[in-house]
Amino acid sequence: MTIYPPEPFRIKTVEAIRLISPQARQEALKQAGYNLFSLKAEDVFIDLLTDSGTGAMSQEQWAAIMRGDESYAGARSYYRLAEAMQKIFGFKHFIPTHQGRAAENILCALLMGAGKYVPSNMHFDTTDANIRARGGQPVNLVCEAASDPTNRDPFKGNMDLEKLRSFIQTTGVENIPFGMITITNNAGGGQPVSMANLKAVAAIYRQFGIPFFIDACRYAENAYFIKLREPGYQNKSTLEIANEIFALADGATMSAKKDAIVNIGGFLTMNDDGLYQRACNELILREGFPTYGGLAGRDLDALATGLWEGLDESYLAYRLGQTAYLGERLLEMGIPIVEPPGGHAIYIDAGRLLPHIPQGHFPGQALAVELYLEGGIRGVEIGSVMFAHPHPQTGEMVYPRLELVRLAIPRRVYTQSHLDYVAESTARIKERRQFLRGYKFTYAPELLRHFTARFEPL
Ligand code: F0G
Repeated sequence: MTIYPPEPFRIKTVEAIRLISPQARQEALKQAGYNLFSLKAEDVFIDLLTDSGTGAMSQEQWAAIMRGDESYAGARSYYRLAEAMQKIFGFKHFIPTHQGRAAENILCALLMGAGKYVPSNMHFDTTDANIRARGGQPVNLVCEAASDPTNRDPFKGNMDLEKLRSFIQTTGVENIPFGMITITNNAGGGQPVSMANLKAVAAIYRQFGIPFFIDACRYAENAYFIKLREPGYQNKSTLEIANEIFALADGATMSAKKDAIVNIGGFLTMNDDGLYQRACNELILREGFPTYGGLAGRDLDALATGLWEGLDESYLAYRLGQTAYLGERLLEMGIPIVEPPGGHAIYIDAGRLLPHIPQGHFPGQALAVELYLEGGIRGVEIGSVMFAHPHPQTGEMVYPRLELVRLAIPRRVYTQSHLDYVAESTARIKERRQFLRGYKFTYAPELLRHFTARFEPL
């Protein structure tokens, strides 16, 4: 029996959702060119497209919104945020940004250059794109276990330390302006990184004099995984664990739309005085004055409150328990997923569920479309639609290792019965899986094609 943790909150405000008829879903899909990004959100019953900016704010956060100070410079809300930033992350400086990719853009604008490389366990696609946009190359050096969906290693987000060391030696320190690690590893199944691995990665970067930045979107979930799984951390608070993580680095980027449970916001934080000065100039040019970045005062205030709520251990126990519940229920029903369940999402292994659909016919897309048809559920394909590309020399298609459908769980939004509904809808698809067919593009842009491509069933 998988256990669903009781929510450590009760519901004060509700937002109605509706399941439109199967015929209406079929029609909506056709209109959308079978791309779930093009659906009207109102036509979706359970929306698991992303956990980004989709969380439910608390009464304290809504109260903070009312208390927001909209002064252009030096607002009270900024100082509330600065205090939380200091206590949790502890870097010398920070600048607010409107979301995570704005922080990545500023970091890349200041440090990247043509022919430079940035290693990480795995870069998220906006980080990847920001590095490339400045002429650089993102490099993913996650451990081997990450590519085996049935391997239940507790820290599958870990960096492969040997690969990192030899990558730095062969590439040359002068070609690596900074190094990163993503916690938890979103692109690799929402899997955590252990403290031991973070320490070892930091030591390698330090040894070579490479500045170390953490992509901290889901740092609180990662901290709680460390508390649950890593010997020696059971009696430490998530705040202490977070302090220990960030003391290892020179800075961090964060999309606060994840673990700070706000609908918009992010930041770039660092120790280096010179880098901070230059980041402020870049911020002023594109985002806003350094005490508000791209945000309203009320957003800063909700963020200051949300950072603490995201670290709350009863919330995190529920949060990770809820994701694990959905994952274990799917496994019980014989539906293959990336194991063990990650922090923010379950990744269904569409390649294994639909072995009769070749990669070139997009099994992940077929499953994602079917989930919508079956139950009005929206997930996102993370497979060949997103990643397959022609080889630059031979022109032959290069396919990703896994064909996944991510079901991301918004924070404090859906209940056990919603997740049961998702699991049962998926199980019904499994019963008729041999009848599912693939898709082909009718339109596909060259870059980031999953957002706007259109399809036709085969
Ligand atoms: N880094 C990671 C690990 C992310 O997951 C995201 C966003 C970003 C950076 C960029 O942040 O959207 O605020 O600009 N992930 C969302 C997702 C979009 O659905 O996984 P942003």
